Amino acid sequence: MVYPKHSMKYQSILILCFACILGCSEPQEPTPPQTEEIVTEQSGVYLYMMYCASCHGADGSGKGLVELDRPARSFVDGGFSFGNTLEAIAKTTRSGIPGTPMPPFAELLTDAEITRVVQHVRNFAPTLKEVLPTETEMVIQDRPAVARGMIPPIQDSLQLHPRGLLVGNPDGFSYEYRVDDVRLLAIRQGKFVERTDWTDRGGSPLKPLGHVVVLVENGNPSGMFQSMNGEPLRAKLKSTNVLTSFGTVKYDLIDQDGNIFATVSETCRPTTGVRALVEQHLSVHAQIPLIISVPSSATMDDATTLQIGSHERIIIHAAREVH
Ligand code: HEC
Repeated sequence: MVYPKHSMKYQSILILCFACILGCSEPQEPTPPQTEEIVTEQSGVYLYMMYCASCHGADGSGKGLVELDRPARSFVDGGFSFGNTLEAIAKTTRSGIPGTPMPPFAELLTDAEITRVVQHVRNFAPTLKEVLPTETEMVIQDRPAVARGMIPPIQDSLQLHPRGLLVGNPDGFSYEYRVDDVRLLAIRQGKFVERTDWTDRGGSPLKPLGHVVVLVENGNPSGMFQSMNGEPLRAKLKSTNVLTSFGTVKYDLIDQDGNIFATVSETCRPTTGVRALVEQHLSVHAQIPLIISVPSSATMDDATTLQIGSHERIIIHAAREVH
């Protein structure tokens, strides 16, 4: 604040008055009885039903009435990717998650209201282990998880993918995809992913944490599918599924005119025992015959030409430490 010089006197008088008001009023302020507080303030439950339940479900299961292109988080499972402390959840609630349907509430709710609604959110999973807000790492427990966002270049010479996808499985392997044209770029082993800079309106870059064990065609693979006359087919993401122990990615193969050649369901997992090989399982339901071009860094177990019908193929990647 800037005060004109001549008002300095008034300023000090004002300060004195404030000090007096604060000082005097403090001991006199009666503590409002508990019951009154409930009447005048909207409870966390009420706020939750009003602002959150439509997407996150009245029971916090993530199954609200609103159909979203991606599910709202289930609070019951306790899968908080940005930390589950009051402060971390409050921060997410205030700023929303850019690039997802999760809206910001900073302008709709007061800080006190956000605190109450967040306390209610935490009640859905009362046994949550506290995760510090600095640990924004997404931790995988007994089910696979999927994170979407910008994928930074895997190596210096490689491209950034604004639309990326990471599938992390409980066995510690994770799979890095671009999704503008679904392609497996790399396989990692170790921790899953950290979201950085998620308050930035520009999107939420993902920071995969595992070390790379497979770099498909040096991290810049060409498309795997072609029509019988060699026209490349685009793999358009349909859905992801994390209900079994290995995350599944589903996509349609379409040509330039929009004809759907096939639907593919893709699941990756290391071979049991010695985990030096990772298998990329493809379940292909072909409506129009097509050809698979196996990445030059991998091999496939069967014929590359697929006629109309259902086919299973396994592409095998050799895993090793990539630097
Ligand atoms: C329009 C639908 C919608 C509404 C309304 C909504 N959310 Fe969400 N919320 C989502 C979606 C979708 C996600 C998952 C985003 C993603 O993919 O990361 C999410 C994620 C979250 C997360 C992130 C959990 C984490 O760390 O991974 C929190 C916390 C959250 N919501 C709290 C709230 C609260 C509190 C309210 C009400 C005040 C609310 N949401 C209202 C759709 C919604």
